[in-house]
Formats: sequence, C-alpha cells, structure tokens
Amino acid sequence: MLVDSHCHIDFPDFAEGAEPVLANMRTAGVGHALCVSVDLERFPNVQALAEAYPNVFASVGVHPDHQDCEEPTVERLVELARHPKVVAIGETGLDYYRLPREAVDWQRERFRTHIRAARKTRKPLIIHTRSAADDTLAIMREEDAGGVGGVMHCFTESWGVARQALDLGFYISFSGIVTFKSAADLREVARQVPLDRLLVETDSPYLAPIPYRGKRNEPAYVRHVADLIADLRGLPVKTIDEATTENFFRLFSTASRS
Ligand code: NI
Repeated sequence: MLVDSHCHIDFPDFAEGAEPVLANMRTAGVGHALCVSVDLERFPNVQALAEAYPNVFASVGVHPDHQDCEEPTVERLVELARHPKVVAIGETGLDYYRLPREAVDWQRERFRTHIRAARKTRKPLIIHTRSAADDTLAIMREEDAGGVGGVMHCFTESWGVARQALDLGFYISFSGIVTFKSAADLREVARQVPLDRLLVETDSPYLAPIPYRGKRNEPAYVRHVADLIADLRGLPVKTIDEATTENFFRLFSTASRS
C-alpha cells in the first residue's frame, strides 16, 4: 500500500466529491492521503474530509503564494492543530517565482510563524520552496526547523539543496514532475535520496504524472510516481511502497494507520 503524502482533494476540481476519489485510491493500492491546507478560509473543508474518512489526514497552514487571506498567527495555527486528525503544519515556505522578490518580506514572516507553530505543537512541517531555496534553508536554520522536522514537498531542487534539507532531518517528497521527460536532473536526485527519507505525493489536482500529464491529477496516480522511482533505483515496487509508507507514518507520527 502507498500513501499520497500531499494532495488537495478539498479543491473545487473534485466537484464529484471524495467518494469516487477514495474508490480510485483503493483500486490503485493507495491506502492513505494527506490533504494539505492552503489557507484558513478553506481549512474547515480540509478538516471535514479528515473527519469523514479515517484514511484521510489534514494539515493546517497558509500557502506562501496566497495573498488577501487571513494571516495566520502562531496562536491560531496552534489552536487549529489541536484537532487529532491534523498531523502537520503547512503548507508553508517561500515562493519567489510568482511574486517580485522585494514584495516577499511578509512571506518570510509567515514562514517563521509556521515554524514556530510547528515547534510548539511538535507537529512536522510541510515545506514548499520555489526559486527561493537559499532563503528557505536559511530560515529553516534560523528558526530551528530541524527541531521538529518535516518534508520538502514536491521537490524540484538540486542534490545540494536536498542534502542540506536531509542534514536538517527533513524528508524529501517527489511528485509527478519526476516522471516528466525534461526532469532528468530531478530523477538523479530521486535516485540518491536515502530510502528511509523518501516520500511520494501527487500535489493533486496539479502535476499529473505521465501518462496523465495535463489532466486533472488525483491521489490514485501516486502509483505512477512510486513505479518510476522503483524503476530508477532498480528496486521492486513493493520496496518503494513499504519504505515510503513507513516513512510517512514515522514522520507524521500522530497519523493512525487504521
Ligand atoms: Ni500543495
């Protein structure tokens, strides 16, 4: 069985509701999914999904790209993270790709807020970084993110960045991007990440892996990410399934397997 360590099945893209999505997961041998919060306005929907389905977990956080939304405080995140199905804080991090660099002081503050909340709740971080790896790692060090750990989600950076995150005790999660033809460098990183620090995800509804590229993604398709990584590493698919599932429940230690 596999776990999709990062999806957004609360998004309007899943207008058919969760039941068919969960049925497809079962068929594909995907036992659990972590539904990741991107803002506090939509958090109640994430929480409701986690309450409705034993194999769906939730996180709480505000995505670095989101503006014009409720700005989280440490206290607010800590309060929402008390829910027993909330197993992580995020997604948080830095994203300089969409926003001009000089406009992102608030992004850094928001990131620090999430790390402080994670340290308080002892729940791991889900970190998004895009065109901002050096600043992301610097803030992780300054705020002692290694004290609580977490995952670098939808990883697209170099081995050097992966190495620094691994040294801070973080896990590395690969999405469907690793199946894309243009991602040869990333496949090399996915080959090298220690087996006991590896996670797989869809980031659905985005980034559908080959052979679904360009279509709406869903948690069942994490199977294609795991298959590709098994192939890359010359390992049986079962080994990747078992390792990434063990890793998920070790990292998100308040998530129950039942
Ligand atoms: Ni995401």
